[in-house]
Amino acid sequence: MILLNGKETAEAIKKQIAEQVSGMVASGERPPHLVALLVGDNGASRTYVENKERACAAVGFKSTILRYPESISQADLISEVERLNADDGVDGFIIQLPLPGHIDENKIINAVSPDKDVDGFHPVNVGRMCLGEDSFVSATPYGIMLLLEHYGIETSGKHCVVLGRSNIVGRPMANLLSRKAYPGDCTVTMCHSRTVDIAGHTRKADIIVAALGVPEFLKGDMVKEGAVVIDVGITRVPADNDKGYRIVGDVEFDSVAPKCSYITPVPGGVGPMTIVSLMKNTLKARGRR
Ligand code: GUN
Repeated sequence: MILLNGKETAEAIKKQIAEQVSGMVASGERPPHLVALLVGDNGASRTYVENKERACAAVGFKSTILRYPESISQADLISEVERLNADDGVDGFIIQLPLPGHIDENKIINAVSPDKDVDGFHPVNVGRMCLGEDSFVSATPYGIMLLLEHYGIETSGKHCVVLGRSNIVGRPMANLLSRKAYPGDCTVTMCHSRTVDIAGHTRKADIIVAALGVPEFLKGDMVKEGAVVIDVGITRVPADNDKGYRIVGDVEFDSVAPKCSYITPVPGGVGPMTIVSLMKNTLKARGRR
């Protein structure tokens, strides 16, 4: 069993990005600038945004966090999005999700210029990705593709089971793995909460991407020998330690890992790849402009 080390892989990719950025700056160009909009005071969202800011600093990007009160109106948030769309000093921006209940997330996502949509959530980018055209691909599926590529994992003709059908992970993941390219060329089955006999599907899978948000859902007896298992889960569960919680994936690591050819740990697997994907998208946005 080989651990897919997202931390190390992300560091290697960050180093490449940092070299490109120092080249840009040496030739008189300004570095890429990523802006994150943070609404309200959700602890997990704050941590994610601060991690993104730290990653920007590590590769030489400029980054800005714009903070708004929980009570901001949808119209005012859309005005902010429009202001950023028009700001030549901003290459890409993200609106950290989830947003407060009174704001329609789709309306906000649709207001972002597709050229600055480094989260890859705008329908234009989703559509381009589905058609195999150049696009911003959302960070988690993009990070998983980079990880498969980094380790040279064979995907052509493999049966891949994606657990979860979210717009951010499961759906784009299934699409990317079925595309005519490497990584890709898989036969993909997408399972979700209404799937009958999920274990019957996962036991036949060469590659499993677990993205349901159910801690330790995938058990050893649901996986065949030699499978590649990618764990997207990051649920905080109470624990008797300093933080008062530990991070648990969607895979029961101890029972699944011994059967795998490759598996991602949690933490240190998909998570760091997600952030580096956002950096790659921001660099691409800068290049396009
Ligand atoms: N919330 C959870 N994941 C993400 C993400 O990738 N981007 C944004 N903007 N919000 C999120």
